Amino acid sequence: WAHDVARNDGGELAVGGVTVSELKERFGTPLFVMSEDDFRARARAFRDAFDEAFRELCGGVDVYYAGKAFLSVEVARWVREEGLRLDTCSGGELAVAQRAGLPGAILGLHGNNKSVAEIRRALDLGVGRIVVDSIDELERVARIAQERRAEGEAGVAKVMLRLTPGVHAHTHEFIATAHEDQKFGLSMAPFTAEDAAERGVDPELSAAEQAVDAAVALEGIELLGLHCHIGSQIFEPDGFEIAARKLLSFHDAMQRKHGITLPEMDLGGGHGIAYTPVDTPRPAAEIAQALAAVVREACGELGIGCPRISIEPGRAIVGSTTFTLYEVGTRKTVQAEDPQDSSRTLPRRYVSVDGGMSDNARPVLYDADYSAALANRASDAPAQLSRVVGKHCESGDIVVKDVYLPSDVRAGDLLAVPGTGAYCWALASNYNYLARPGVVAVSGGSARWIIRGETEEDLLNRDMGAAQP
Ligand code: LLP
Repeated sequence: WAHDVARNDGGELAVGGVTVSELKERFGTPLFVMSEDDFRARARAFRDAFDEAFRELCGGVDVYYAGKAFLSVEVARWVREEGLRLDTCSGGELAVAQRAGLPGAILGLHGNNKSVAEIRRALDLGVGRIVVDSIDELERVARIAQERRAEGEAGVAKVMLRLTPGVHAHTHEFIATAHEDQKFGLSMAPFTAEDAAERGVDPELSAAEQAVDAAVALEGIELLGLHCHIGSQIFEPDGFEIAARKLLSFHDAMQRKHGITLPEMDLGGGHGIAYTPVDTPRPAAEIAQALAAVVREACGELGIGCPRISIEPGRAIVGSTTFTLYEVGTRKTVQAEDPQDSSRTLPRRYVSVDGGMSDNARPVLYDADYSAALANRASDAPAQLSRVVGKHCESGDIVVKDVYLPSDVRAGDLLAVPGTGAYCWALASNYNYLARPGVVAVSGGSARWIIRGETEEDLLNRDMGAAQP
């Protein structure tokens, strides 16, 4: 939950003093309800924790908020106002940043298949860095930079190279991104013979080393340094530490090989949050200090100065700032296996709400767990094992798999599902022709749309047949 979510004297849930029934009245349900103050506080906390831990070592840390978790024009402005930078991964996200008036210098561009138009747009905006994912892409960026130079524009692209340090972060497989057999990044392991033959390169050299060699040689490329992102929803610092060590020693080898200085290094995002009480993330300060200690030690061993470190947290900043507000429609009760003891059965209440997998695909995609609370009133009724489900035409359409809700939950009640700030609105769909919910920001006791909810009319407006009589 956001820090300013609490029950009022009447037992109703409120955020920053605004009650859920007021929110329902003004904005309808389903609704994403975000605490602006909480977002700002978490952004600052992350920045301060990492900045402090790394200040002596490399003058502080640049924190790039990963916009893929959730982005809107207002949020982009908050990010800047709180002294963070913004990581984008598409032309659309760059457009949001541009509309928010963010200077290009504080933007980064990611992605494993950036289009020519996206790269051009990034260079036109003067982005602080493009994180290059492959040798094909490096060549593409160089070509575009050279073309721009011929057109009389600034002809240098600031580039980081995304490497896969081979670390398996402890997380759900679909969101672990640093091991070799996946689409992202330049492998630090040697080339395959086929790939080497096709490219006419030395098979003894890793893709990462080939890329550094190429980046140093190519006109139009300014190589800032190395990048890695080892996964998402990670609780333990070990994975970050191993990756940092591997990157630093490669960084050192490349500096020596080419007689250059790589001024930066990015250690990615992936810091976990608590979705349910079993999740136990460490505070940002603890991760920052553990990481700083390892970086200090590795730089000492290698005898090198520490490059300027940056990180890219998304979920850890926005995840807990938001809850989704749903209205209960129908209920039914069945005999089900006891989640604590599979030899027993017990009654399970299915509680259907007015949204579902179209506003939160994470349970279906990643088997993600959430919790839920009766929001519009307090209840003394006994707790009953419940499953909160959506209204979509699929039995997998589950919002919260197992949760104890008061047994008197009924149609018209409001449920709040916390921790939906990251990768929920961002992954929303129009499945079953549902309009995607909007996002309301609450601050200073008042609420306003930051992204208006879609209407049926919005959907029909894009249906070209709808205009015909
Ligand atoms: N940097 C890079 C290069 C990334 O690919 C990501 C996330 C981040 C930073 C931010 O990671 P975060 O701090 O938010 O964990 N849809 C999945 C998560 C996908 C993460 C994709 N990359 C989910 O809902 O769990």
